[in-house]
Amino acid sequence: MAVFKLPQNSKITKGRHFGAAEGASNTRSFGVYRYDPTSGENPRVDTYEIDLDSCGPMVLDALIKIKNEIDPTLTFRRSCREGICGSCAMNIDGGNTLACTRAIGSIKGNVRVYPLPHMPVVKDLVPDLTNFYAQYASIKPWLQTQTPPPADRERLQSKEDQEKINEPSACILCACCSAGCPSYWWNSDRYLGPAVLLAAHRWLVDSRDEATGERLDQLEDPFRLYRCHTILNCTQTCPKGLNPAKAIAEIKKMLVERRV
Ligand code: SF4
Ligand code: F3S
Ligand code: FES
Repeated sequence: MAVFKLPQNSKITKGRHFGAAEGASNTRSFGVYRYDPTSGENPRVDTYEIDLDSCGPMVLDALIKIKNEIDPTLTFRRSCREGICGSCAMNIDGGNTLACTRAIGSIKGNVRVYPLPHMPVVKDLVPDLTNFYAQYASIKPWLQTQTPPPADRERLQSKEDQEKINEPSACILCACCSAGCPSYWWNSDRYLGPAVLLAAHRWLVDSRDEATGERLDQLEDPFRLYRCHTILNCTQTCPKGLNPAKAIAEIKKMLVERRV
């Protein structure tokens, strides 16, 4: 898994320490980023000693245990707890991933849990994804057609055409890849980032879509697409094993091909 340098923030202070439950013998230390922008206080890292014998196997299980049994003020997103909804994306042990599918046992030593890097923080482990979702909406992630559909059936695809959209359709919009892309860190106001470009590619290669030209026009821009410098963190970190870097390369190729 790619390991990303977190934003240097000399103001992150050592926070509170919560010891293990009495009698616990199999404990692990979790250092968890805490920040409430409304408090006026600096971010801090609180440490929780967790009894692994009374905790589920995943990092999300430990966070839920902390919230339920130790510190109800800890804030994080989660829903499905099985790698489907994308809401528990965070930076664990230096890599962007899903807390519900990252096993505590796969991490050596203390477990460090931070929000996705280089995104504004709403509170604690919750990043503000407003810009990310607005960028996703900007690529019009739905089928666009001019011709009327067949009267007696849906717009059908061949198996081969359907296979082209299989992989990108598995994206859960967790934002791990975009939050791991250095180009996106510095230009997220104008660069769409790998997650959104993977989605753009998904619609470009959909055999039923009839807006390919307009979609490519929208992407042919020095910032929206071409800020990708093939750094590949995106593909390395995707917890679903997807390949946004390849999708971006294919969009660039489509743009070259339509010029000749
Ligand atoms: Fe998450 Fe992977 Fe989709 Fe990026 S491509 S948003 S890392 S599922
Ligand atoms: Fe970023 Fe991935 Fe391109 S990490 S620069 S989007 S190959
Ligand atoms: Fe849904 Fe982790 S809780 S992906």
